[in-house]
Amino acid sequence: MTDDILSRIRHRGLRDRVVSAEQAASLIKDGMVLGMSGFTRSGEAKAVPLALAERARSQPLKVTLMTGASLGNDLDKILAEAHVTARRLPFMSDPSLRREINAGEVMYIDQHLSETVEQLRTKQLPSVDVAIVEAVAITETGGIVPTTSVGNSASFAILADKVIVEINLNQSAELEGLHDIYIPTYWPVRTPIPVVTPESRAGFPYIPIPPEKIAAIVISNKLDSASNVTEPDAETRQIAGHLTEFFTQEVAKGRMPASLHPLQAGIGSIANAVMHGLIDSPFEGLTMYSEVLQDSTFDLMDAGKMVFASGSSITLSEAKYTEVMARFQDYKRKLVLRPQEISNHPEVVRRLGLIAINTALEFDIYGNVNSTHVMGTNMMNGIGGSGDFARNAYLSVFVTKSIAKGGRISSVVPMVSHVDHTEHDVDILVTEQGLADLRGLAPRERAQLIIDNCVSPEWRDGLQDYFDRAVQRGGHTPHVLEEALSWHDRLRRTGTMKPE
Ligand code: COA
Repeated sequence: MTDDILSRIRHRGLRDRVVSAEQAASLIKDGMVLGMSGFTRSGEAKAVPLALAERARSQPLKVTLMTGASLGNDLDKILAEAHVTARRLPFMSDPSLRREINAGEVMYIDQHLSETVEQLRTKQLPSVDVAIVEAVAITETGGIVPTTSVGNSASFAILADKVIVEINLNQSAELEGLHDIYIPTYWPVRTPIPVVTPESRAGFPYIPIPPEKIAAIVISNKLDSASNVTEPDAETRQIAGHLTEFFTQEVAKGRMPASLHPLQAGIGSIANAVMHGLIDSPFEGLTMYSEVLQDSTFDLMDAGKMVFASGSSITLSEAKYTEVMARFQDYKRKLVLRPQEISNHPEVVRRLGLIAINTALEFDIYGNVNSTHVMGTNMMNGIGGSGDFARNAYLSVFVTKSIAKGGRISSVVPMVSHVDHTEHDVDILVTEQGLADLRGLAPRERAQLIIDNCVSPEWRDGLQDYFDRAVQRGGHTPHVLEEALSWHDRLRRTGTMKPE
């Protein structure tokens, strides 16, 4: 064993558990439930799932796969194509797996990310047979030090019958100390979660489990996949501009301090671009209490705008990863990674008064938001943490470009084809066209503001006409029911929502 491996497996009694990925994968049997590390393409176990997919080519087997969120290194694709994944939860974003899900081949449980381990712990979900967790190190006492994400790894390891640890020698040893592993107390007497600011630390810097549960240790070296978010463009810059102007007014009205409230930003290119936009804003001393820390978090820190960020994973572009890891000691005191049930916990989200910024695929004239289902039927990625945050935030913001697919689709529609976030959970809507502040408005007032401020000009008359005719029919939330989904139906039949 090299010195590097010895320094990373500090519990002497566990050193003889090092085996090959194939040997470790042989612990996994047909029909088992796997709980695997990995959150938004970072910190996933890499060697064992690959060995499992390889084995399934000659000895077919199917498992239920639970993770924190999406996986990198094409693992969801590889496992789906090897027909290993029978059931998947709580989140994914891989195109191949998405195809299998939409074909009904894989049963996908699209869940609020804070809830999976609560349901496991209370036996509402089948229990985890084997947890597979990527780690930087195993401590002297057998504690597992996660890598670039925490996700659900802590509870998976605590609740599983057996644990496989992948020690990744290419994940920096400096990551140790970054994590804060706090597990809520169990019902019936549950105490408050002691997180009162984004900086609060309440738990251990490792996952505490009895060392005898570690059944195998695998040495790996594959890096996380780089983030696949695209650079800000003209429209996302406009969205960021509208939000910055709105925040400026809120501060001027005395509703928020100049450091704003802690920020949560969802996954994807649009949310990342919005955060980038804050670099040129007048705000100082910003903090984040979010799930995923993307490039924009570190750019805001470098610009002197952000002082602290709490998340459940770090997912960066290739260039940013190299830069951040080279100066990790400088960043570390400004960062903490937590289990996703804590980063997304309704109690903490409400206590901290978050500004939650998430992305919609489409929203309707009354402010209902669809973030997951294209045409109300085909899964895109999943709700992720957006519901955990939107429902409980101080200010719940949804952003999207007003049109999609080269203008064939209006992202503002008479009625959304699937609802993830109801009108009751949405405060602010923003497109490149403008911003609608829905707070304190009745449905009829909301509809007019959304049509005036958020809709692309070529779709505005159509929506106004729909709304006017709906109002003539009356009702608190007026609709022309037989036409409410006619824009989607037209898209399905003709390839565009535009009138025939
Ligand atoms: N109808 C159909 N397709 C639409 C659409 C609409 N109204 N609006 C956007 N799209 C398509 C885009 O064309 C793009 O398609 P492509 O992948 O074929 O290019 C795709 O949806 C993604 O849109 P994009 O504009 O690139 O935005 P994004 O990368 O910011 O992703 C979501 C947007 C909604 C898919 C993404 O944010 C998501 O999955 N959100 C749900 C989970 C979540 O919010 N988590 C937050 C807590 S971390």
